[in-house]
Amino acid sequence: MLPLTMMKLVVRFAMIFVFSVLVGYFVLSKYIKYGIEETGNEIEKNTQIPATSGVMDKESAEESGHYHMNMDNNLHMYTSPKLKRLEEIVLAVVACGDRVAETLVMLKSALIFSQVHLRFIVIADDDLIPSFKEKLKEWTTILPNKFVFEVHPINFPLQGNTEEWRKLFKPCAAQRLFLPTVLGSVDALLYVDTDTLFLAPLEEIWEHFGKMNSSQMAALTPEHEDHATGWYNRFARHPYYGPLGVNSGVMLMNLTRMRQFSWNEYVVPIYKEYKLKITWGDQDIINIIFHFHPDKLYIYPCRYNFRPDHCMYMSVCTSAEEEGVAVLHGNRGSFHSEKHMAFRAVYRAMEEYQLGTDPYMNLLLVMKKYLEETTSSNCGKVSYIFTKAAEKFIREGDFVEDEQEEEN
Ligand SMILES: *[C@@H]1O[C@H](CO)[C@@H](O)[C@H](O)[C@H]1NC(C)=O
Ligand SMILES: *[C@@H]1O[C@H](CO)[C@@H](O)[C@H](O)[C@H]1NC(C)=O
Repeated sequence: MLPLTMMKLVVRFAMIFVFSVLVGYFVLSKYIKYGIEETGNEIEKNTQIPATSGVMDKESAEESGHYHMNMDNNLHMYTSPKLKRLEEIVLAVVACGDRVAETLVMLKSALIFSQVHLRFIVIADDDLIPSFKEKLKEWTTILPNKFVFEVHPINFPLQGNTEEWRKLFKPCAAQRLFLPTVLGSVDALLYVDTDTLFLAPLEEIWEHFGKMNSSQMAALTPEHEDHATGWYNRFARHPYYGPLGVNSGVMLMNLTRMRQFSWNEYVVPIYKEYKLKITWGDQDIINIIFHFHPDKLYIYPCRYNFRPDHCMYMSVCTSAEEEGVAVLHGNRGSFHSEKHMAFRAVYRAMEEYQLGTDPYMNLLLVMKKYLEETTSSNCGKVSYIFTKAAEKFIREGDFVEDEQEEEN
């Protein structure tokens, strides 16, 4: 009997104990939670002060999913908060004079192949800005969430010699030399001349950032593949990179590293010292800088900057023969010239292609058809190199009409 009553007593005490612990915990937790919330509010109030009193900085803006402001008022940006910055490739171009149409064909080609989110930075003459904004805005409705864009006016960080820089080469080409300063919040970008076309995804080019070592801040292709036809080795009156110089038409730029290197501080003195000896403007300045700092430059193969020189006499770009052209560079007007039929054929097909329609039927097949008409030219004889990379990414039947909507 005794053990039984003892047991009952113990159980009763245990129940009372458990009950009071539960009540105590409930009351205490309410109090603690309230306390935390109080402090939380304080922190929030404090952080909100700078955000509401001034321009939102990029990081905090991105965190909150809103992203409207940047460096200047001319900027128009359309962003999707869904996509993070790390998944984004930045493509920059400088367009002046009569280059609007050509630049838009290049930007269109970037949208066709790339699977990642793109950010276009267009720097243009004041009177060209409305045309870019209008067309790019139209494209954002055809390809929603595929890309964002910014259009900036030409801007030189120097005082005084703006006119001198403008006249240095083709109008405003020197702008590119100042991108590390002008685009102070951008880490890295792919810069291309307006007379380029993508025939492979931008991801394939961007990958080379990952292959650079810690001292390399830019990637370029050689100006030539062989000594016999090289320009720099035969004619240059100034220092240049490597045995044959580099072409600057398709340039991966790690702006962070260029700023760390104080890139801009090299540009002006080099220009002053060599201005009477340079022929190709900004490209020569880039060659001179990397002549003195070869460890800072990464060289990628010619298929990333394929020019008429690579096929007009004979096919000399091995990487393009093997894997196809990734970026076509119609320099010296070859996209618009009868002399370079194959280059013109590719450009024409890209120009006629309507974004949002089947790229197999309306781009690849059309391009092949136009290229077939150029087999009398040396470049036309090796026309497979123009479509080889593109064929890997554009396949028959892959395109579905409402694909874009499904993805989003
Ligand atoms: C550019 O360089 C900086 C500094 O070394 C590095 O943190 C960043 O990841 C680089 N950007 C790219 C795209 O490689
Ligand atoms: C990076 O590569 C270049 C070219 O091969 C070389 O000159 C340089 O010393 C390398 N830098 C580092 C930090 O390894």
